[in-house]
Amino acid sequence: MAIAYHSSSMPNQPPPGLPAPIAIDGPAASGKTTVGQALAAEFGYLFLDTGLMYRAFALAAMRAGIDATDAAACEALAASLPLSARAGSETRIFLGGEDVTAELREAAVEGNVSRYAAIPGVRAAMVARQREIAASAPAVLAGRDIGTVVLPDAPLKLFLTASEEARAVRRAEQQHEDAARALRDIHGRDTSDSNRKTAPLARADDAIEVDTTAMPLDEVLAFARARVIALMPAVRAAASPAAKAAAGAPAPVARAVGVVRAAKGWFSYARFVPPFYWGCTYLLRFVLMVVGRWKATGREHVPASGALIVVSNHLNNSDPAIVGAGIAKRRIRWMAKIELYKYPFGVAPRLWGAFPVRRFDADIRAMLQAERILKNGEVLGMFPEGHRSRTGFVGKPHPGTALIAYRSGATVLPCAIIGTEQLGNPLNLLRKPRIRVAIGPPFTVEKVRRPSQQQVSELTERIFSEITALLPAKYLPAYTDPGKDGNAADGGDPASS
Ligand code: DC
Repeated sequence: MAIAYHSSSMPNQPPPGLPAPIAIDGPAASGKTTVGQALAAEFGYLFLDTGLMYRAFALAAMRAGIDATDAAACEALAASLPLSARAGSETRIFLGGEDVTAELREAAVEGNVSRYAAIPGVRAAMVARQREIAASAPAVLAGRDIGTVVLPDAPLKLFLTASEEARAVRRAEQQHEDAARALRDIHGRDTSDSNRKTAPLARADDAIEVDTTAMPLDEVLAFARARVIALMPAVRAAASPAAKAAAGAPAPVARAVGVVRAAKGWFSYARFVPPFYWGCTYLLRFVLMVVGRWKATGREHVPASGALIVVSNHLNNSDPAIVGAGIAKRRIRWMAKIELYKYPFGVAPRLWGAFPVRRFDADIRAMLQAERILKNGEVLGMFPEGHRSRTGFVGKPHPGTALIAYRSGATVLPCAIIGTEQLGNPLNLLRKPRIRVAIGPPFTVEKVRRPSQQQVSELTERIFSEITALLPAKYLPAYTDPGKDGNAADGGDPASS
């Protein structure tokens, strides 16, 4: 077999402890290449787009006049083809020294590649080569069967998905083609890649599935990056604020709240935070009763003591305060986005007992702070979605909440916040908006210091379903507006939905 490989110069020297190899699978146009190349550029992995190898095979077979129905001739060609893959921060493919990379996206190849990729002997030749490349240096391999067949032991497996329509629009934009045609191509290739007998497109059991339909690219990249960092003890330590400070870089949190820290001699949070928190909370409850139609249900579910994680959907910046007013019995320490901690207003979340988190990042410092709060038997507040809903519908949660719940073994208290999207427009206050906090029954999580990815994703799902069970249908992603009666701007009552 004449499939050769050479690696180009690496963009960065890979840091020690880099998790490798990484498997990225998913259907056509799901973003595998973008994510793979970004990880390669940042961490110094080789990037191998295995789809290009199948494309190059299809090109060579078509040039030789061999149709995919002639499996024997295809297998003979695979055994003798001078195909070389150059994996670097991007992948280039050569046929007998000719760089054919640019031709591999042409319509003829696009339309036929999945037929050739279904031939077992062709796949066997490609898989053997892909494994050699993955063994030669830290590598990210993208394809359809990387996590299931090529690299079943990869320490990190991502499975990217997105709706067919979203993928077609992205493909059409990238390649300046008609979106309807892109949709037809994508649909055809997905069907054949998923239904073939040998190594069909499938998610490995231990792969993390990321549905990117409604996720901006930077979030997808930040998520993938955070998964790599989470598996790198050395890099995690070097990225800690203490290590950065030692290297001369000011730790962002310390800089943001420096004004308060400087006054530490007479100022102590411990002295000011509880009165400030309860003062604000009772004032807010009063205001809500006066200006809105306010109701909190299920308060009997709030445990009187012990470590507790309050989780809720997120519609408006006022939500932490409003959930706090709904819970009332216990003071909540919220994780708050670091952007809120800028001088001069950054003093307020501190005074209120919140602590900063860098969202979409493996913020180890915030994780440790959360664990400390729970260890002290206090209440931690988190929005598992990580940000306010842009659509009004509840979004997919990030796994951080489940991870903290496992590591602390704390009780989880699901809550739903309803109606605060109306507060985006102060004029809505004139209509006495209906604002609700629904508190569901708590559940406990058995403590696991190192939960598996599957455990984390199952608990993430559970948290999501406990929150959605408390929400009216109009906040759920599957909701379709029945007409002007179903106006999502009016907070309904979960009990009546
Ligand atoms: O990722 P892509 O669209 O460039 O893939 C081209 C074709 O190759 C597609 O039909 C699926 C197939 N393929 C595969 O069967 N196994 C892989 N590991 C990668 C791609």
